[in-house]
Amino acid sequence: MNKPLGVAVLGLGWMGQVHSRAMLRMPSLFPNRSFDPKLVVCADTEEERRTRAVNDFGFERAVADWREAVEADDVDVVWVTAPNMLHVPMIEAAAAAGKAVFSEKPIGGKPEQTVAAYNAAKAAGVRTAVGYNYLWAPLVLHAKELISSGALGEITHYRGRFLSMYGSDEMGLLTWRFILDQAGYGATSDILSHSISLAQFLVGDITEVVGMKNTTIPQRPLPTGAASHYGRGKPEDPKGDVENEDFASMLCWFKNGATGTFESSRTMVGPESQNAFEVYGTKGSLAWNLEKMNELQYYKLTEDPSSGYTTIYGGDRFPFHGAFAPGQANSIGLEDLMAIEDYSFLEAIATGGDFSPSFREAVNVVSVQLALINSWESRSFEPVVDLSGE
Ligand SMILES: NC(=O)c1ccc[n+]([C@@H]2O[C@H](COP(=O)([O-])OP(=O)(O)OC[C@H]3O[C@@H](n4cnc5c(N)ncnc54)[C@H](O)[C@@H]3O)[C@@H](O)[C@H]2O)c1
Repeated sequence: MNKPLGVAVLGLGWMGQVHSRAMLRMPSLFPNRSFDPKLVVCADTEEERRTRAVNDFGFERAVADWREAVEADDVDVVWVTAPNMLHVPMIEAAAAAGKAVFSEKPIGGKPEQTVAAYNAAKAAGVRTAVGYNYLWAPLVLHAKELISSGALGEITHYRGRFLSMYGSDEMGLLTWRFILDQAGYGATSDILSHSISLAQFLVGDITEVVGMKNTTIPQRPLPTGAASHYGRGKPEDPKGDVENEDFASMLCWFKNGATGTFESSRTMVGPESQNAFEVYGTKGSLAWNLEKMNELQYYKLTEDPSSGYTTIYGGDRFPFHGAFAPGQANSIGLEDLMAIEDYSFLEAIATGGDFSPSFREAVNVVSVQLALINSWESRSFEPVVDLSGE
């Protein structure tokens, strides 16, 4: 019999809705699962979202106070999908109540907050997951297999970037993402964290970094209501200061001797969601870009004069793809990655199996982030110190 798992979702914004939809899709996507999720309670401070939780998503109930949801006896697993600065208190309370916790990335907004959440969950002995969803893209999993099999030879260089346009409109509202005590750091916490997690997954530990940062839109119109990053102000609206970085770049050394270059921006004009990597090895290379997430470029070194990059299209021969679309080159989408990560976490809980990325991997990401932040001050290479203390 499948294990029943009661789910609480804290914050029904973009991510809260995506994960709630994923729960609803579990039975039809994964018939061989070992669990049955039930949307028990949603917490959100906005009444309109609480109404949607019950009416549109089918939660049994919705509450304004997230503590009530976290402590409920009929909840087994808590999804933390509220703005960054709520992550740590939510995780600490969930861990103290003995619940398994999935937290959206980056877990808090500053490295020490991620570490605090990791320590709380570790002390309570609860299962954890972090929402680095791009690691679950079927073609990224295939890239990992190719690299691990030695198909690329020795890895010599990694290029990672996450260039997004969500902040490129200067009339875009000053939402929580731009405020230090709500988001923590800017592009580094929000999107460079995805690039670092991908690099660590594919190539391994990063040991030394140096980087730059910049804020290109220093002021934005003040928001009204529960805006995420979709609202737009007018030139005459009152404005407030952007308190964290729009752009961050980084050079690094990997433990295996490879070099790396990284760029992240939320304000550049042009790349709409260019979460991309290139991995170069002595026998071949790979390139992937979220904007074309159903394509993986593969270059294999041969003596054939016709050699060049080939395109591998997504298909059901790659991990998880067949749950969404059969055959070859029938595309899957962004929300499917969250369904895969949610399925994998719940399956690990139900069967007692291993799960990664957990809060431990989130600490690996912020260990690199702290070295980068230190380099902004020192203007030189800084060592990456494992903040887990292990
Ligand atoms: N994995 C990804 O690719 C990805 C993408 C987007 C966002 N995120 C992460 O997800 C988290 C949420 O981002 P989002 O874009 O969904 O934000 P959002 O602004 O769309 O939604 C946040 C929700 O939290 C609610 N909220 C605010 N304060 C609350 C409180 N005290 N109690 C309960 N609910 C409260 C808001 O009303 C809103 O519904 C962030 O940590 C972000 O970094 C991850």
